[in-house]
Amino acid sequence: MSPLLELQGVSVAIAHAQLLDGISLRLDRGQILGLVGESGSGKSLTAMAAMGLLPLIGGRVTTGAIRFDGQDMVQMTEAQRRALRGRRIGFITQNPMTALDPVQRIGAQIDVVSRLHLGLSSAAARARTLELMTQLRIPEAGAVAEAWPHQLSGGMKQRIVIAMALAGEPDLIIADEPTTALDVTVQAQIIQILAALVRDRGLALLLITHDMGVVAQVCDRVAVLYAGRLAEERPVDPIFAAPAHPYTRALTLCIPRDDTARGALHGIPGAVPTALNYPSGCRFHPRCPKAVSACSATQPALVAYGEDGRVACHLPGPGAP
Ligand SMILES: Nc1ncnc2c1ncn2[C@@H]1O[C@H](COP(=O)(O)OP(=O)(O)O)[C@@H](O)[C@H]1O
Ligand SMILES: [Mg+2]
Repeated sequence: MSPLLELQGVSVAIAHAQLLDGISLRLDRGQILGLVGESGSGKSLTAMAAMGLLPLIGGRVTTGAIRFDGQDMVQMTEAQRRALRGRRIGFITQNPMTALDPVQRIGAQIDVVSRLHLGLSSAAARARTLELMTQLRIPEAGAVAEAWPHQLSGGMKQRIVIAMALAGEPDLIIADEPTTALDVTVQAQIIQILAALVRDRGLALLLITHDMGVVAQVCDRVAVLYAGRLAEERPVDPIFAAPAHPYTRALTLCIPRDDTARGALHGIPGAVPTALNYPSGCRFHPRCPKAVSACSATQPALVAYGEDGRVACHLPGPGAP
């Protein structure tokens, strides 16, 4: 079966900055793919590319292909992309406030999605809205549907945004750090609920998150981005048991236990370089504990690794740090 979403050697530029370099990913129906990497790695740009939203931020695909259910998203018209986004691709953003209309009641905002995309009557749409809200474990769904956005907590608002993303019965959900704005204790819980709903419905989920603990719990596969390139992409269990790329290893070592651990890379100082100052060879080499001279000289190609995995590293796998 052809993948639902496929990125093939996708490079993305904004103005003169080459921000993504040869990203290849596939996501099948019923699968959850985690996309991880420090801030500035290119996760959101990858999501924007997959939704055909790059033109909105002045970005363009310079090489490669993006296919949704076999359709070429780079070549299609903006109207065709917009139709896909509304109906077949649901999007959950980082900040629920930007997704909710402050002057519309909660229920009406969810109703409109299934009325528009599924052609439901207002009564059928409301029944569906309440069912979704209940599945998202929103207590007193009927009362919440009559509430205004400002009356809800951040966690509740984010559940509403998830309900909106699910209401049109999309095939694919793209969630870009869906819980970053929330309390740490609420974050994991909401992602678990989202993942369970996605599994129940056989949807595909591209989950961008900082939380490696959540990735380990809910994802089937993990893609690791570093400085606009794919460092490693493998099934979830082996990647945590034996990360092949030193960068992945560093990420897996910083599964946050509390808020203070978030964002800090275990034992690896420094930050993701920007497009203005990408190092030669492997872009991770200045921070890599395993780096040898080849690492600054040549860029490692992304090659097959382990069972059904890929890695871009001159010295993949365990070994002296
Ligand atoms: N609109 C933009 N214009 C210029 N540079 C951008 C823009 N959006 C993102 N970038 C740059 O692209 C890189 C990747 O950004 P992004 O995809 O947002 O990373 P992430 O989501 O992993 O934090 C960063 O270096 C960022 O500064
Ligand atoms: Mg981002």
